[in-house]
Amino acid sequence: LDYYFIYGPHPKQVLEQYTALTGRTPLPPIWSLGYHQCRWSYYPESRVRLLASIFRNKQIPIDALWLDIHYQDQYKPFTWDASRFPNPKAMISDLKAQGIRTVCIIDPHPTVEKGYEPYDTGIRDDHFVKWPNGTVFEGPVWPSLADRNPNLSVFPDFTRAATRHWWGTLHKSLLDIGVAGIWNDMNEPSVFIHPTGTMPLELIHDQEGHPTSHREIHNVYGQLMTRSTFEGWQALQPNERPFILTRSTFAGGQRYAAVWNGDSAADWATLRQSVSTLLGMGLSGFPFVGSDIGGFSKHPSAELFTRWLQVGVFSPFMRVHAEFDAPEKEPWVYGHRYESILKHAIELRYRLLPYLYDLMHRASCTGEPPMRPLCFEFPQDEHTYSLDDQFLFGPDLLIAPILWEGAHERKVYLPSGIWYDFTTKRKFQGGKTIAVRADIDEIPIFAREGAFLLMQPVVQHTGEMSGTRQEILIFPGAQSQREFYEDDGATLAYQKGGFLKRQFVQTRCEEETRISISAAQGSYRPLERPLVLRIVSDQKPRLVSMRLPLNEREEEIFLPYLQPEEFEVYSRGWTYDEQVISIKEDDRYGSFSFSVYYQ
Ligand code: GLC
Repeated sequence: LDYYFIYGPHPKQVLEQYTALTGRTPLPPIWSLGYHQCRWSYYPESRVRLLASIFRNKQIPIDALWLDIHYQDQYKPFTWDASRFPNPKAMISDLKAQGIRTVCIIDPHPTVEKGYEPYDTGIRDDHFVKWPNGTVFEGPVWPSLADRNPNLSVFPDFTRAATRHWWGTLHKSLLDIGVAGIWNDMNEPSVFIHPTGTMPLELIHDQEGHPTSHREIHNVYGQLMTRSTFEGWQALQPNERPFILTRSTFAGGQRYAAVWNGDSAADWATLRQSVSTLLGMGLSGFPFVGSDIGGFSKHPSAELFTRWLQVGVFSPFMRVHAEFDAPEKEPWVYGHRYESILKHAIELRYRLLPYLYDLMHRASCTGEPPMRPLCFEFPQDEHTYSLDDQFLFGPDLLIAPILWEGAHERKVYLPSGIWYDFTTKRKFQGGKTIAVRADIDEIPIFAREGAFLLMQPVVQHTGEMSGTRQEILIFPGAQSQREFYEDDGATLAYQKGGFLKRQFVQTRCEEETRISISAAQGSYRPLERPLVLRIVSDQKPRLVSMRLPLNEREEEIFLPYLQPEEFEVYSRGWTYDEQVISIKEDDRYGSFSFSVYYQ
């Protein structure tokens, strides 16, 4: 056994040092941070196309539709059921034209069937896990609830480099037709053998030429599968960012895949438990996590589904999923009222996407998870240590979701300092527990004094982001600053300087609030766009100006005041409405600043 002692002492330093050792999640493609809709299983093709058009017609934002095991021919990985999906390439490209990516499930259990390539090549090149006597292990997996009857399955020995490489190459057929994400499931591995539900422990793995039994490999099997998928993808599409979701993993698996916490029951206790599970995963080096929104098994009430989705807005991975015989769980199935509530929640996710993307960038540099317990930011405050029913979304937002049936209010602990209700902008003195009301369409969210939130207007999918106006919502304190990161959201150009990084500094005194924006670092530039600063203030200012550098001096330009209703129409100016000063200007990449004068 090797022991590592990580000193910290701040929890952020502990995690930074731990992830220096075990690795960090690479920056994901930005579409993977959008809304995902899944069930076991969407088929045939016409149903998938119909879903896409309903989302677009109803203007409910979405970035991905998922195909569970029924897209495959008899549940065989790397095949398509030709009657259900006669032309997957055309379907995937039509969905993509609507801004919707397709994600496909791949389980680690090729079927025993001569003439099926993964089986034939796997047997030929010795890729499967064996019994101690050298015969290949065959075990049952699907069907269980499924409706066709395949043969037994074999299991790749991902402890061999050659096997990982071979498995990686099998993804070519999927990536070539435009599949955007791979869902690695059943990789504990799940084998339908009683009572263990997994491989017999005496099976032998090669372990890079040092054979050992499944006892030693069991816990890393899932992680090795995701490694094989990830490395295979890198080889096939070297300039893309792989998106992989996994059910099983191990310390360090954050380098390869996002994780969801498996099959959860649609009940309130499981919703509550999922919040603490996701927070724990974040502290364990896994920032890209989410749970099955609405629960997997059982039937969620409209209320439970809504409250679960409200948590999902702040889960880095946001996917609705449902078991084979669960009822439909699309955002419109609970009637008009809920549809509009759910749509607004998904829209809030998209409004906050630039902030979340920046948080995922931070996670890729330091390990800090976007969804984090309060004690991660406030370790000096012992009150925070036992809180797992409220959490932080990045450093600046405190989320206190409703997690009890029928509840319309709850207690929220605000650590010391000033906090603002995100919606009403009402101010609270922290260091105490307060009671808040939240009807079914409300999520209690608080912003910390000094907060900067990088936002955008609602878009229908992440492909619409470049050139969309950038909004920065600021809750001024005496002084605060944040650095924000953007890039093309898709390629690896960011590794060669293709990013945009800027510092935003805010200072407030009696007469003036000043927001300074540093010159941009990096070569990425979004399409031309307006910049809108929204500064929370209980006072209407007298004047607002912008300062630009001019021949080693600074030029101060006073911006025109606009009536609130004129603000959307004009391309520059400022207004004051509902305790928010809004300032609009063209975004620019040199240094510049805005001053708000109160007197
Ligand atoms: C497993 C997964 C679940 C999936 C099902 C069918 O139960 O956890 O998410 O829908 O298998 O593939």
